[in-house]
This record gives sequence, structure tokens and C-alpha cells, in this order.
Amino acid sequence: MDVTIIGTGNMARGIGTRLATAGARLQILGRNADEARTLANELSGKAAAGQVTAGQLDADPVAGDVVVLALPYDAAVEVAKRLADQLANRIVVDITNPVNFATFDGLVVPPDSSAAQELAKLLPGATVVKAFNTTFAGTLTSGEVNGQPLDVFIATDSPEAAKAIASLVEQAGMRPIEIGPLRRARELEAMGYVHMLAQDPAGTGFGSALKLYS
Ligand SMILES: NC(=O)c1ccc[n+]([C@@H]2O[C@H](COP(=O)([O-])OP(=O)(O)OC[C@H]3O[C@@H](n4cnc5c(N)ncnc54)[C@H](OP(=O)(O)O)[C@@H]3O)[C@@H](O)[C@H]2O)c1
Repeated sequence: MDVTIIGTGNMARGIGTRLATAGARLQILGRNADEARTLANELSGKAAAGQVTAGQLDADPVAGDVVVLALPYDAAVEVAKRLADQLANRIVVDITNPVNFATFDGLVVPPDSSAAQELAKLLPGATVVKAFNTTFAGTLTSGEVNGQPLDVFIATDSPEAAKAIASLVEQAGMRPIEIGPLRRARELEAMGYVHMLAQDPAGTGFGSALKLYS
């Protein structure tokens, strides 16, 4: 399965590192093509990296069957509006935590919705999956916390898409946990927000993981 990552920042590097290390074929699309090329070159150097290509967002066609929106929530909304036709018939992975970054007080999405559900409304032809919003970028890049693989919580209305993303996550050395339909993204986004709020009091410096132990 080919994966396109839109964005060239911390999460693009984190998710890209895990997928490249697993040998996935990746396309990195950025609004800054130089940054996309730099990240693609970096990811190409990972062990077992498959082909990693780079391109300019909006100018180059989206190649992946799976498209990860590694963007701030407001940018993901803009891109979803602009690329809705191109993203039809693909799995679109929403990783956002739609925190109100001006106040850091709550989420900007309606209280009975989630970023993932709002994006799904803009992408009627695509299958939206919520994933990776509870894993911090640095932990994705290193692939573990305290010697333990990361847990990746997944919510989507499509069993096929859930299976596809769970399989990618597993190939990339993490544990997928499918928690239910896309409306559970609301709870996942709350988890992601709480995980962020906990960093200062817990002194974990964005290096912690939300993980189920048994
Ligand atoms: N960082 C984490 O640990 C973490 C964990 C879980 C979830 N998330 C979520 O993951 C998403 C990405 O976070 P990040 O940490 O990777 O952010 P980041 O490092 O700031 O990277 C954001 C990327 O989005 C691009 N971008 C910003 N505005 C854009 C626009 N209007 N159009 C096109 N591209 C735009 C940036 O491009 P430029 O470089 O050109 O500005 C950059 O490539 C966010 O929604 C965040 O809530 C982050």
C-alpha cells in the first residue's frame, strides 16, 4: 500500500520514520517542496526504506492509497476542501489534536463532534480514519518509550480501512488498537489533549506514551 504524507513537520517525520523503516513506499508532499525533498531524503536513508519521493502540495498529484494529513487542524481543513476530489476513494488519516492553541483551553471543534468527523464531512468520497493523535512525534521517530512499542488507537466507520491502517501500524512495529467508529475520535482527541496537558505536571517532556498494559 502506497502512503502519502502531507506535511513535513514533526509528525510527518515521526510517522514517516516508522513507515519507511518498515519498507513502505512513501510520498511526502509539502507546501514547501524543498522541505519535502529534505524529509524524503532523510527517510530514504532509514533501514529497509522503500521508495520515498517528494512533491509540492497542490501541484503534484497525490500518489498514496492512504493519505496522512500531518498538518495543524485548520490547515487540514483547508487542504481537505481543496483536495476533496483527489482524495476521493482513498483512506485519509486524521492525526490532529484540534486544541485551541491561542488559549490552550479546550478543543476548537463542536462538543458533539471531532476533527475527524468535521474532516469527513469535507471529504464525502474518502474514508476517514482517526489514528496517531495520542502518540507524540518524538516517540514515533524513536519507535518506542522505555523499551515498549507504541500503542496506536484507531477509529473509523470502515472495517476495511481499520484493517488496512492496523496492518500498516503493525508492520511499522507498533500495536494497533481499534476502538470503534469514527465518532470515537471525539474521545481520542480528548485523550490526546489530556496527554498534552499532563506533560508539564508529569515532567515527561512530550516523551511519554499512552499505552495499555495487562
Ligand atoms: N507533535 C506531536 O507530538 C503531535 C502528536 C499527535 C498529534 N499531533 C498533530 O499532528 C499535526 C501536525 O503536528 P506537527 O507537530 O507535525 O506540526 P509541525 O511540526 O508544526 O508541522 C506542521 C506541518 O504542516 C504544514 N502546514 C502548516 N500550515 C499549513 C497550511 N496552511 N497548508 C499546508 N501545510 C501547512 C507545515 O508546513 P511549513 O513547514 O511550511 O509551515 C508543516 O509541514 C497537528 O494537527 C497536531 O495536533 C502532533
